[in-house]
Amino acid sequence: MVATSVRTLATVEDTEDFGRRLGELLRGGDLLLLAGPLGAGKTALVRGLARGLGVLGRVSSPTFVIAREHPPAEGGRGVGLVHVDAYRLGGHLDELDDLDLDTELVDAVVAVEWGEGMAERLSDDHLLITLERRDDDTRVAHLTPHGAWLDRPLP
Ligand SMILES: Nc1ncnc2c1ncn2[C@@H]1O[C@H](COP(=O)(O)OP(=O)(O)OP(=O)(O)O)[C@@H](O)[C@H]1O
Ligand SMILES: [Mg+2]
Repeated sequence: MVATSVRTLATVEDTEDFGRRLGELLRGGDLLLLAGPLGAGKTALVRGLARGLGVLGRVSSPTFVIAREHPPAEGGRGVGLVHVDAYRLGGHLDELDDLDLDTELVDAVVAVEWGEGMAERLSDDHLLITLERRDDDTRVAHLTPHGAWLDRPLP
């Protein structure tokens, strides 16, 4: 049985703050899959993750880059973040493999936008976050833990 819990995120700040609180709970080797339509707030959430983890570099929607590495900031927790936007991969698993994310996944947190249906195979233990966009701009985050994530605390 897969249990999904929901969080209501009224503003972009709420989405970033949720990401920050989640980021504070993460450790190296964690895999997050971010789903939801264009403009749902996946990148906004990753911006929060970066803050919670304490990593360097600006989080943005990479136009030409599929994956961007954010190294840990000095004096921080020592865990980096790899931010992947798999949108342009269009489901091509071989291109995902070319990114060698399984190597990154040992030390860093890997967060994959548009990774649902592709990136699960990187680890049975992952957290799927599906952002739903409501008409009033509110987002509803559906959190679905898999594997070891079933026993992990969620913000
Ligand atoms: N409650 C909210 N949570 C997140 N973003 C919101 C919210 N309300 C409005 N927004 C706006 O929606 C947009 C979300 O953009 P973002 O780039 O994070 O989406 P995305 O899911 O990464 O899209 P893409 O699939 O194109 O990568 C931003 O312009 C943000 O300001
Ligand atoms: Mg995005």
